[in-house]
Amino acid sequence: MNDLAGWTVLVTAGGTREPIDPVRYIGNRSSGRMGNEIAVDAASRGAQVTLVTTMTPPDFAGEVVDVETAAEMAETVWERAPHQDVIVMAAAVADFRPVVAHSTKLSRADGPPVIELEPAPDVLAGVIERNQGAIVVGFAAETGSLERAVAKAQSKGVDVLVANDVLATGSGFGTATNQVTIIMPDGTIDPWPLVSKAEVAHRLWDLLVELRAQQD
Ligand code: CTP
Repeated sequence: MNDLAGWTVLVTAGGTREPIDPVRYIGNRSSGRMGNEIAVDAASRGAQVTLVTTMTPPDFAGEVVDVETAAEMAETVWERAPHQDVIVMAAAVADFRPVVAHSTKLSRADGPPVIELEPAPDVLAGVIERNQGAIVVGFAAETGSLERAVAKAQSKGVDVLVANDVLATGSGFGTATNQVTIIMPDGTIDPWPLVSKAEVAHRLWDLLVELRAQQD
């Protein structure tokens, strides 16, 4: 299948790490697996793929940019955003980061530190500002009801929101499978079955091919 030939796509994957000191960080449980599968499937269908990730990338025919923090992810993605047909934001990006990243290791002897946080850049919002023509896919990792995800699909300016309950059996961080629900900004909700992350990736690109055909 070569149905993505001529498409330029950017995929984010993994969880960002926000430094507290040179040794410690604030992070999250994202494994990068879902984003990796999305990048691999797109490349196998002929797209020109850039994978921006905090994790070990798969072996595939695409460009890889390693990043660590939300700020690095923002800079990398925003620079490339204007040139993309599709941007898939599968990464779990920090919402907050320490105001100060200490240059030397904090010592136990100094007692428990108070770590003040500030908002991290909203990568998705910056993408939408920079490229109104691209198809933008957001992800929403929820814990329980997907009600909040429906609101996100409407408020974030995405074309598609892929929501999943990370507490559900077989879904979530590090698993090989995922049960996602596709939410469109018009409120349409389509729960997909529990399938491999590779299969979710494949179905997602099928959906994006359909969406793009509707736009042309
Ligand atoms: N995202 C982003 N930049 C951030 C945080 C999140 O670009 N600093 C993106 C994620 O990559 C994802 C989407 O925004 O595609 C939704 O992330 P989520 O954490 O569910 O959204 P929030 O608005 O942060 O919602 P919550 O209230 O659950 O924290």
